[in-house]
Amino acid sequence: MEFDLSLIVNSLPLLLKGAGLTLEITALAVGLGLIIGLFLGLAQLSKNPIFRWPAKVYVDVIRGTPLLIQIFIIYFALPNIIGERIDPYIAAVAACSLNSGAYIAEIFRAGIQSISLGQMRAGLSLGMTYPQTMRYIVLPQAVKRIIPPLGNEFIAMLKDSSLVSVIGFEELTRSGQLVIAETYGTMEIWTCVAILYLVMTLTISQLVGWLEKRYRLSDER
Ligand code: ARG
Repeated sequence: MEFDLSLIVNSLPLLLKGAGLTLEITALAVGLGLIIGLFLGLAQLSKNPIFRWPAKVYVDVIRGTPLLIQIFIIYFALPNIIGERIDPYIAAVAACSLNSGAYIAEIFRAGIQSISLGQMRAGLSLGMTYPQTMRYIVLPQAVKRIIPPLGNEFIAMLKDSSLVSVIGFEELTRSGQLVIAETYGTMEIWTCVAILYLVMTLTISQLVGWLEKRYRLSDER
């Protein structure tokens, strides 16, 4: 069997479009996941069980069940309850952000807990309220520490977003399947798809490394 390069060249526009959509849902998922995760992370640290318990249950349930099943539930099961079909794009972004939110909640929780309690006490003793101390003293320090795990989450989500190909959303993996259905070029197309994922994840880790360095420099100044 020979490797047909022209196959890749011909299908590249379609695959690149798929890669663009993969990046788009990943960015949306991690962006929305950051908002969900921040509140869940803070709720998990709350002394009030009314906030703490639901947040813990959410994180446990989402992390304890496969993303694939969550996608199935949102796309196939939920419409039976609400009586309306859900667009694959909406279902994909919803499933990925709800999932990412749980992972990011743990990242925020660990980041906040890694800041010494003295910082919180110092803020409170200066007459600041708990939310003020969290917002102006603890979180800015925590954010610096959570950049590497957030980068990990971004990369993991980028690859796991391939799971939404099962509901027919035409991101990179689904585009690859469609091109192969027409051309039978399994070797060429899957290799090309893998390289496109690799290029995206390597770019993200470069960006994260650069962000980390910038923060380190601002510390030394
Ligand atoms: N592969 C794991 C699953 O199927 C994790 C998926 C979510 N990944 C993430 N980084 N949020 O549940």
